[in-house]
Amino acid sequence: MRIISIANQKGGCGKTTTAINLSSSLALNGRKVLLVDLDPQAHASLGLNVQSQHSIYNVISRIAPRKLSLEQIIVRVQGQFDLAPSNVLSGTLEQELADEIGRELKLTTILSGLKGYDYVIIDCPPNLGFLTINALRASSEVIIPVEASRFSMQGVERLIDIIQLVKDRLNHAIEYRVLVTMFDSRLRHSFDMLEKIRTDFARNLLGTIIHVNVKLKECVANGSTVDAFDKYCRGAKDYYSLAKELITMEKKPAEVSFSPLSTQMKQVVKEKVKDLISTTFSFVAPEAQSVYVAGDFNNWYIDESSRLQKNGDRWQTKFDLKPGVYQYRFIVDGQWQEDPRNPRCIKNIFGDSNSIIEVKA
Ligand SMILES: Nc1ncnc2c1ncn2[C@@H]1O[C@H](COP(=O)(O)OP(=O)(O)O)[C@@H](O)[C@H]1O
Ligand SMILES: [Mg+2]
Repeated sequence: MRIISIANQKGGCGKTTTAINLSSSLALNGRKVLLVDLDPQAHASLGLNVQSQHSIYNVISRIAPRKLSLEQIIVRVQGQFDLAPSNVLSGTLEQELADEIGRELKLTTILSGLKGYDYVIIDCPPNLGFLTINALRASSEVIIPVEASRFSMQGVERLIDIIQLVKDRLNHAIEYRVLVTMFDSRLRHSFDMLEKIRTDFARNLLGTIIHVNVKLKECVANGSTVDAFDKYCRGAKDYYSLAKELITMEKKPAEVSFSPLSTQMKQVVKEKVKDLISTTFSFVAPEAQSVYVAGDFNNWYIDESSRLQKNGDRWQTKFDLKPGVYQYRFIVDGQWQEDPRNPRCIKNIFGDSNSIIEVKA
């Protein structure tokens, strides 16, 4: 069972949106998931239209009039996706835990008896109090959402200090990964921030980027996950990619390549790949800090896979593409532009030009 906290003491950076939609995407990928709403504001519970009389408060509190087990409060959301809801009473837990011995271990003990789940996702409150410490202590991994436009290193550093403290004082190792949220690919500022986040976190940055998408806001008012609201929107696709990224970490590469399934997979990939043509995109920009390529072949997505690597003056990357005609643009230090070396282009709806490439068999 993988236990992952979604934490950042900053409010409004996308914790709850990530907790809900990552949980449902993992469930869509066949994983059995429990989302634990640990925030007294109960945004995850409300966002899923669950208003329960009983909550995580009844499980954690020693003085609750009605003491319940975790299993007793769990509510089915959809398919393989369950929720342990929160409500306003959880707000009293900070005070109660302050006076208790072993207060950091309460959630660890509660989750240690839980069976039948592949993933537990914990939505943390926007502070570094005892509830968040409990979540960190119970988790093997933490996802730290950072909002691309309002990224502040200071806040994240404080959280990483706390993770380090849990590691040293409570003798518990946790891996943390930063997730870029609310990325607006129309703004140059977003790319500047993305570069800064990449420099600061390097190996601890998740490859998936969550773009700004209004459907992620609208689905909350509807009390549903984004995939149930509009499974084709960008928000649903981004969280699906995030689930896939986490799932690929489940097995170490060695285990994957020796399993019988993998031999079969290799065959399938081989058959598919023979129709794909390795296509290089390159851009000369010695002074640039970052270059991405986005086109209809990658759904105009900006993420780690669309970033070009610098080699001398030239930036380049390869995509395996089916034969066909594709439109694309480069994003150089956040500025969208056509390929200056390619005369073939077409006007797009914004009045700019998309470059055109033809991939031949
Ligand atoms: N990728 C996104 N695109 C658009 N709006 C978003 C996105 N992620 C979150 N939001 C909105 O931003 C607000 C804060 O997000 P939320 O997930 O509640 O943050 P937190 O739990 O960290 O306080 C909410 O109104 C949410 O609907
Ligand atoms: Mg929240």
